[in-house]
Amino acid sequence: MISVVGIGPGDANFLTTEATGVLKIADTVFGSERQLQEISNITTATKQLLPKKLAELKTVPHEGKEIVILASGDPLLYGIGNWVLRHFTSEVRIVPGISSIQMMFHKMKLPMNDCFITSSHGKTPDFDFLLQHSKVAMVTDSLIGPYEIAQEILKRGLQKIIYIGENLSTTEEQIHQLAPNKVAKKYDMNVVVIVDER
Ligand SMILES: C[S@@+](CC[C@H](N)C(=O)[O-])C[C@H]1O[C@@H](n2cnc3c(N)ncnc32)[C@H](O)[C@@H]1O
Repeated sequence: MISVVGIGPGDANFLTTEATGVLKIADTVFGSERQLQEISNITTATKQLLPKKLAELKTVPHEGKEIVILASGDPLLYGIGNWVLRHFTSEVRIVPGISSIQMMFHKMKLPMNDCFITSSHGKTPDFDFLLQHSKVAMVTDSLIGPYEIAQEILKRGLQKIIYIGENLSTTEEQIHQLAPNKVAKKYDMNVVVIVDER
């Protein structure tokens, strides 16, 4: 059986009991170095780095074996779970995790209701479309992050507040609430929430 297990935004305290249970019975666990480190105390399974070419996962023998693929946050929110569902014809189990976006809203004590969720990973978002929404949450990459998003808001003369959550649930966590013209050029791994200024 192939299971994609969401391990939350970083801190192992946010792992669900279901995720821990699946990890405990796993034969092999695939993940990034950081992810494998995070779950190292939970499972005695063989740990393997996720191959650079994900397609190689398809050749891993999984008949009669419990194979786990780790996903940061939630597997189906811009995560590897979506790739696995598209590429495996055999039965796949998806174990939900707490996403970085969910974590961010809880840190800000802001309702998630009616939020438009998107990503800048490997694509240029349609800013005209997304900035029409009164509440937007984005996972970002190093090319289009808080600064680039802020510039798009300034270009359009919109009245918005930007929240940036860096390294959520880790010891380096930082939450910023800024006007677009105050957003710095560089932040660590982050989630951005954009809301209309009231
Ligand atoms: C490929 S996406 C995966 C999102 C993940 N599936 C989720 O539900 O959070 C990776 C992006 O998620 C965000 N992210 C993941 N963990 C984070 C954390 N601990 N703090 C801030 N942002 C995080 C960052 O924008 C990062 O570039």
